[in-house]
Amino acid sequence: MKVKVKVPATSANLGPGFDVAGLALTLYNTFTFELSNQGINITGCPKQFCNEENMTYQAFKRAAKVCGLDYHGVNIECSGDVPYTRGLGSSSTCIVAGIVGAFAFKDKVEDRQAILELATAIEGHPDNVAPAIFGGLTVSVMEEDKVLTLNIPVKHDYRFVTLIPPFTLSTEQSRSVLPQVLPRSDAIKNVSHLALMVASLINGYDEGLKLGFKDRLHQPYRGDLISGFNEIMAVLEKDEKVLGAYLSGAGPTIMAVIRGEDKMGVVRIKEELGDLIKDWQVTKLELDN
Ligand code: HSE
Repeated sequence: MKVKVKVPATSANLGPGFDVAGLALTLYNTFTFELSNQGINITGCPKQFCNEENMTYQAFKRAAKVCGLDYHGVNIECSGDVPYTRGLGSSSTCIVAGIVGAFAFKDKVEDRQAILELATAIEGHPDNVAPAIFGGLTVSVMEEDKVLTLNIPVKHDYRFVTLIPPFTLSTEQSRSVLPQVLPRSDAIKNVSHLALMVASLINGYDEGLKLGFKDRLHQPYRGDLISGFNEIMAVLEKDEKVLGAYLSGAGPTIMAVIRGEDKMGVVRIKEELGDLIKDWQVTKLELDN
C-alpha cells in the first residue's frame, strides 16, 4: 500500500498574530510513503536531507510510535514547489506529511486533533501546522500540550502576492533576534491589530486590514535581517490597492494582500518595487480551503 499526502504551503503570523495566526496557500509539497523491509529510503529532496535525520522521516517515526505502527523500513518520496527556509512553511509540510503518513497505515488520519497536537509539539508553535492540516485561515491557542484551532471565515476573495527573496533565513536565526520583553504599548498595539485584522477578515472590512496587519512584536526586529525590508514595506504601504503587507512566518518572504478583482496587482507591485526586488520571485497565490 502506498500513501500519498499533499500538504499546502502556509504563511504564518499574518503580521500581529505571532505564533497564533496562519493561512494555507495554493502551493504544495507531496509525499508518498510505502512500508518496506529494506530500511529507510528517502528520495526527491536535496541530497543533504535524504537521510534518517530527514524531518519527514523524523515526524513519521514519532507518529508511528504514537499510533502503534510497527514497521521495519519505509520509502519516502518527496516532491513539490514550497521553497525551503523562506517563511512559507516548508518544514510544516514535512512534519504534517510524516504524521499523516504514519497515521494512514493505522487508519487514523481522521484524528486531526491528534495530528495537530503532535505536529505542534514537533514544530514548537501551531501557526504553520494548523492551516497545513485544516486549510484556510486559522488561529490557534496553545495551553500546555493542548492546542485549540479555529478556522476564521474570510468574507472576501483575496490574493496573496508572495515576494520570495533569493536568500534564505532560518526560523532559528529569525527567532534569535526577538526580545524577551516588550514595551506594554507595543503589546497593546499587537492585541488591537490582531483583533482588528480578524474582525475585518470576517466582516469584509478591507479598510481595517492595512492597520490590522501591522506588527510590533517581531517584524521590527526581523526586518534588519532582510535586505530592503523597510523600503519594500514603505512602498507597499503607499499602494492603495495593497490591503495589508507583512513578513510571512519567520521571513524572508514578504506578503502583500490584494483583492481578487485586482488583476493587475502583481504587475503593478513589481513595477513599484523595481530594483528593490531584483532577483526575487513574485507569485500570486490564493487561500487554500
Ligand atoms: N511563528 C513562527 C515564527 C513561524 O515567526 O517564528 C515560523 O516558524
